[in-house]
Amino acid sequence: MTTLKGMGDLARLLKESWTLVEEHQDKVAGYFYARIFLSHPALRDLFPVHMDVQRSRLLNAIVTAVQTLDDPEKFDEYLKALGRDHKKFHVEPEHYEVVGGALIEAMRAHAGEEWGVEYDQAWADAYAVIASRMIAGADADTNPPYWYAEVVAHERRGRDLAVFTVQPMQQLEFRAGQYLSIECTKYQPRLWRTYSMANAPRRDNTLEFHVRSLGAGWVSSALVRRLQVGDMIKLAAPMGTMNLDRRSTRDAVFIAGGTGLAPVKSLLEELTRYNRTRWVHVFFGAKSRDDLYDLADLNRLAARYPWLSVVTACSEDPTFPGEQGNISDVVARYGPWNNHDFFVSGSGPMVKSTLKTLAEMQVPSVRIKYDSFTDMN
Ligand SMILES: Cc1cc2nc3c(=O)[nH]c(=O)nc-3n(C[C@H](O)[C@H](O)[C@H](O)COP(=O)(O)OP(=O)(O)OC[C@H]3O[C@@H](n4cnc5c(N)ncnc54)[C@H](O)[C@@H]3O)c2cc1C
Ligand code: HEM
Repeated sequence: MTTLKGMGDLARLLKESWTLVEEHQDKVAGYFYARIFLSHPALRDLFPVHMDVQRSRLLNAIVTAVQTLDDPEKFDEYLKALGRDHKKFHVEPEHYEVVGGALIEAMRAHAGEEWGVEYDQAWADAYAVIASRMIAGADADTNPPYWYAEVVAHERRGRDLAVFTVQPMQQLEFRAGQYLSIECTKYQPRLWRTYSMANAPRRDNTLEFHVRSLGAGWVSSALVRRLQVGDMIKLAAPMGTMNLDRRSTRDAVFIAGGTGLAPVKSLLEELTRYNRTRWVHVFFGAKSRDDLYDLADLNRLAARYPWLSVVTACSEDPTFPGEQGNISDVVARYGPWNNHDFFVSGSGPMVKSTLKTLAEMQVPSVRIKYDSFTDMN
């Protein structure tokens, strides 16, 4: 197995050299893509139509990976999964060399005179190790690069929300609480975004998704406003570890913000199949009552299963009859929570403030699983 020698030194060289080009990131990105597409025009078809929106997505991803994964051993699983995931972009092993070469040339071209051969070598070494792990992950994967799925139901729940169901054309296995990438093939080809399944695995193989469209959001607005019954979408292999531990006997607390409810419903559906002994508390929060788009169904579940209770909260709807405030603060008003398993999902800020609240309440972090839909910084 390839390893990196002199890790500390390598990390220093990578960081030092990046500071030489950091200020000109846009230009570096432009050069990087031009280099790839001029030398290998066929690779243009792997990327989205409108590259301006996310011009430096891949470049940023590689630079972040190379800089933070300076111990590839530790990130082996992540890199293998990333390699597997790249199958959905139609990436082949020989593409890695093209991209790695373009990356180094783009940096060298913008760094000025301070660039040296030791920087070339550092980037080439680090990139090669990462690429080899990714390629190994893709090679070992027996899944198809993606699954086609037909939209069999599509329901608008308010202005910017939709709940829809798809039927994959081939068996697609997943665990409750996971997510996968979707390409809305007909309307936004080659743009992939992750969405959480809102159901536990079913015998008929169908999958339900809850999507909120964000103002300028490319994929989410297509999924909410344009997608129709009969359309085909593509799904990539499921990922994520926000799963139930069936051996746990602890009571459970689920905290969801907005469409963060999707994976929570998936986990609840799984619990309805076997749980007899654990109390389960769901906290569901949103800005206004219109955003509590699936409350009727949650209440139905709570009426049917005596072990389930639901608390709802709105942060910007003063006449809402449930709790008032951010869901993370509302959770703190209940409790005590010292012997529970926690599952948190929603936007980055929502997850961040909930984790802070839980830490303040001395909940051990090993008992908390979470998925953040956006950046937590
Ligand atoms: C693990 C995981 C699971 C997810 N599950 C779901 C799910 O079940 N349902 C769901 O609806 N979403 C989910 N998401 C979010 C989803 O992947 C997309 O990020 C989201 O739909 C926006 O994609 P887009 O292409 O529409 O927007 P983009 O084109 O990527 O972004 C467009 C613009 O919107 C801005 N923007 C992006 N996110 C936000 C935001 N939250 N608030 C305000 N502005 C924003 C961006 O800065 C950008 O300017 C999940 C994300 C992750 C990481
Ligand atoms: C060290 C090697 C690589 C790393 C670490 C890497 C990492 C990543 C990551 C993390 C993303 C997701 C970005 C996001 O969703 O925000 C991504 C996207 C992508 N990668 Fe890679 N990648 C590598 C090599 C390659 C290669 C060789 C190709 C082949 C051309 C490729 C093609 C793509 C494409 C097409 C996307 C989608 C870009 C987009 O939506 O704009 N990647 N990469």
